[in-house]
Amino acid sequence: MESPFNSEALQGKVALITGGGSGIGFEIATHFGKHGAKIAIIGRRKSVLDEAVEKLSSQSIQALAIEGDVRKEEDAKRALDSTVAKFGKLDILVNGAAGNFLCLAEDLSVNAFRTVLEIDTVGTYNMSHHAMHYLKSGAPGKKSGEGGLIINITATLQFSAAWFQTHLVSAKAAIDSMTRNLALEWGKDYNIRVNAIAPGPIKDTPGMSKLAPDEINIRDSPPWGEKWDIAMTAIFLASSAGKYVNGAIIPVDGGAWFHRPPHFPKETIRSLSRVVEKRSRVGSNTKSKL
Ligand code: COA
Repeated sequence: MESPFNSEALQGKVALITGGGSGIGFEIATHFGKHGAKIAIIGRRKSVLDEAVEKLSSQSIQALAIEGDVRKEEDAKRALDSTVAKFGKLDILVNGAAGNFLCLAEDLSVNAFRTVLEIDTVGTYNMSHHAMHYLKSGAPGKKSGEGGLIINITATLQFSAAWFQTHLVSAKAAIDSMTRNLALEWGKDYNIRVNAIAPGPIKDTPGMSKLAPDEINIRDSPPWGEKWDIAMTAIFLASSAGKYVNGAIIPVDGGAWFHRPPHFPKETIRSLSRVVEKRSRVGSNTKSKL
């Protein structure tokens, strides 16, 4: 789909995207690049990164791949230093790297729980903590008054509760709180906005191929979105249109997290609601006469 944004909306910006080699991260990398940004991506699989850079370069997008693990401080520092060495500065960090699988809580080992929290939550903090010095006003390569932006890719499952996702909801709820707290501490003092995008079920992503594998037929499923929807929200936040948005957790899910089949058919409600109302009035009138 065409972008509704001006193709120069991110002209001159430099973005580092964790998990940028595939799925939602790669979609954000592509659209950021098409809107003028220079792109660095970090991920664990060299072959995936190489292919991603090739695709970005073929669209005339300047791109750099860094092999690394967001859980490791030395990898985070190396990715940030290489991005600034190559492109001269850093404007945007997108924390998209995540790990997930379906698992009953009683079968979820402590190490499995820890692994997801380390990739998602500690990884987001590790990257943000080390990126802060490059993102803030006055950092190397920045124009006067120019700040930075962090976009955390979170989820909607932690807004309530989700079957077989104890590890994921714990990790993402922490990221949501981290988002608001870093927005508070870094917004005014350092001119770094920190926001989160909470995607609902998005087609053709590694995440959904794990949560809704072909073998499982999800009946009465909520509306699915596209990677494009997430990338456009990221551009909104990164462009001047988002300059006053800080500490927001933006669900991009078509309202899917509210999705629950009705308890009774709509027709039953239409016919029953007035009957119940009438009965309750008769009841209260009787009581007031007593
Ligand atoms: N169900 C239950 N436990 C699982 C599991 C599953 N499907 N997959 C992995 N685990 C457990 C492992 O058994 C291990 O626990 P143990 O030591 O008690 O046995 C623990 O999780 C760590 O697994 P390991 O494979 O060593 O970790 P890793 O760092 O190599 O991989 C994952 C991390 C498991 C999250 C892996 O799925 C991954 O790398 N994911 C990234 C891609 C992804 O998930 N994308 C979707 C994003 S929404």
